Amino acid sequence: MKKFLLVLLVLSVALGSVFANGQQGGGSAGGKGLIGIVMPTSAEERWNIDGNSVKEGFDKLGYQTDLQFSNNDIPTQVSQIEAMLLKGAKAIVIGSIDGSALGDVLQKCADAKCITIAYDRLLTNSPNVDYYVTFDNYKVGQHMGKIVVDGLKLDQAPAGKTYNIELFGGSPDDNNAVVVYNGAMEILKPYFDKGVITVPSGQTDFQTIATMRWDAAEAQKRMENLFSAFYTDKNLDGVLSPYDPISLAILESAKGLGYAKGSATKPLPVAGGQDCIVASCKSINDGEQYATILKDTRQLGAATVKLVDEVLSGKTPAGLDMAQYKSTDTHVVPSLLLEDTIVTKANLKSAVVDTGYHTAAECGF
Ligand code: BGC
Repeated sequence: MKKFLLVLLVLSVALGSVFANGQQGGGSAGGKGLIGIVMPTSAEERWNIDGNSVKEGFDKLGYQTDLQFSNNDIPTQVSQIEAMLLKGAKAIVIGSIDGSALGDVLQKCADAKCITIAYDRLLTNSPNVDYYVTFDNYKVGQHMGKIVVDGLKLDQAPAGKTYNIELFGGSPDDNNAVVVYNGAMEILKPYFDKGVITVPSGQTDFQTIATMRWDAAEAQKRMENLFSAFYTDKNLDGVLSPYDPISLAILESAKGLGYAKGSATKPLPVAGGQDCIVASCKSINDGEQYATILKDTRQLGAATVKLVDEVLSGKTPAGLDMAQYKSTDTHVVPSLLLEDTIVTKANLKSAVVDTGYHTAAECGF
């Protein structure tokens, strides 16, 4: 008996320290079993909203939930998933940091018959990925390309005119970043081929333009280096930007060099983005950032909750894509692919404010 109590004590101390590593974790009681939710970081606006909306959805259906944020640290995320398994989680929703780094713990999930859901970011390097719920990232990339095309009015470019752009990518360990880049480049390629756009730095391949952990400060440093190396005698007309904080950082660098909204000689570069964060909506309304991509996290959260509930209730989820995503060379991950929306000043109110995604005041109306 003493030994048993000791084991129990050790286990609860271990669990306590595992949870202490996460940030702002929260649990809830509920009768239908435990669902683990693990998000990459609480330091980015979107993952907070994602985590909490997924948690609320499961709470409403009567599940018990355990929501953890992993501080962008892979070992923390692994321990959090292990702790959820120890607590008997029936399913774990995983917003990964490095999608390829969780193979061992995903094996433990499979051994425990716990359903794994890759949330927004694909999990790779493991056959133990049951479902993937995300936005159609290739389309997101195509939309990022379209933002550059529309923002610079490339289809109406005067004959002989070439616009200078630079390319920025997301984190090289996030599968989404590569897919998005490929989608964007498909749209931009004909304009490169026709000479309507060019990249003065010559930096176009994904590994060169990638931004580790989507870090806006790193992207800003790269932009500043590009400005001083390649733009002393020309203007930067636009950027392909994969993420709102990166867009805002690039616009800051440009402003520091005299680029200004509405300037006839040095207008701010056209910049898109992704995630529709409050600061970018405000910037779009102010006429600075040109556009962003809204991936409605409420829809993603609701779709995830519905899918998991169906699976745990023995139903077969409908509408899954069985071709686009694999977690190994051979393991197809059944995927639910949602649609994003391009947001510019023209539809900011209807797409963002009227749908309740952000308030009018947040968007600067
Ligand atoms: C997500 C984006 C997000 C980025 C940075 C990507 O995996 O799909 O929505 O902007 O990570 O967090």
